[in-house]
Amino acid sequence: MKGLRLLATGGALPGRVVTNEDLRRQVDTSDEWITTRTGIRQRYYCTENEDAATLAITAARQAMARSGLTANDIACCIVATLSAPTATPSIACRVQAALGLPEDRPAFDVNAACSGFIYAAATAHGLLTTLDGQYALVIGCEALSRMMDPTDRTTCVLFGDGAGAAVFELAENVPFAITLGARGSEAIRAGGPAACDTAPITMDGKAVFRFAVETMPRCLQTVLDRSQKTLADLAWVVCHQANSRIIDHCIKHLHAEPSKFYKNMDRHGNTSAASIPIALHEMEESGLLRPGQTLACIGFGGGLTWGGMLLTYEGRK
Ligand code: ACO
Repeated sequence: MKGLRLLATGGALPGRVVTNEDLRRQVDTSDEWITTRTGIRQRYYCTENEDAATLAITAARQAMARSGLTANDIACCIVATLSAPTATPSIACRVQAALGLPEDRPAFDVNAACSGFIYAAATAHGLLTTLDGQYALVIGCEALSRMMDPTDRTTCVLFGDGAGAAVFELAENVPFAITLGARGSEAIRAGGPAACDTAPITMDGKAVFRFAVETMPRCLQTVLDRSQKTLADLAWVVCHQANSRIIDHCIKHLHAEPSKFYKNMDRHGNTSAASIPIALHEMEESGLLRPGQTLACIGFGGGLTWGGMLLTYEGRK
């Protein structure tokens, strides 16, 4: 089976920084509670003129520029999000128009909440094979600040906005594995009976925590087994950045080296489908990703859903 290689990333953060101190003035909380329970210190919120689509377009432009490819090289554009400004046009179609991607290629959104980026990458992998294409543009983007009840301290401290984009190449003889799953449950809920209904995010935090600490190590082990790799072969494990304690549980459970697990929730909070590609982008920007490195990306979240992917970082063409 052919696998995906990561060629380049892009990222976009909205204009408003919201610190724990800012939230303390809004709800009955404290910096101490938020940092010790979650590891989050600040998050970014969209300003009036920003939304998940504007962030996606900026991140996608950057990823394309870094990839060394042209719009014509891209065989499909897939966006993972649960906070698109409109049900249609999809964010992927907005990206297609803004970047001038060819019209005879598919562009669509997928919603698998915080696992969305892995679902989107898996979809791109399948589509590249179906369409006989070589390169895919995959984006994760969210404007969760638009979906939160600002008076609910159990959720408003957790989430943030942002976007990350990745250009993948379908290649022969590369280490690659994907696992995906779902368990229908109302433990995390956002939006109402119609897609345009803006009922805010609610969450059974404890149930989600238990689900996450059981799912993450299992997903990681599955992609390692399927690609006949071990933890020692991985340069990085890039988990969904919901909560520092969830990642610490996973490290402990696997007796893993903590420095392999990238963390950035202190600066971004939980950005759902955007969290893994934002992390990949930061890592590329700061020189932590080197060509030939093997990475595992693990997502879990609303649905409930989960997804794991093992792949190599190649760098630009
Ligand atoms: N500030 C101060 N106190 C708070 C806050 C807050 N922001 N939020 C809750 N509390 C209080 C509670 O009311 C409770 O008080 P009580 O004991 O008097 O009832 C106390 O703090 C403890 O609350 P718990 O819910 O037990 O706190 P817990 O240690 O479980 O941490 C948390 C909560 C951080 C939400 C944790 O459960 C968690 O991280 N869950 C996973 C969330 C997640 O990963 N979601 C990802 C998917 S999201 C998606 O897909 C869209």
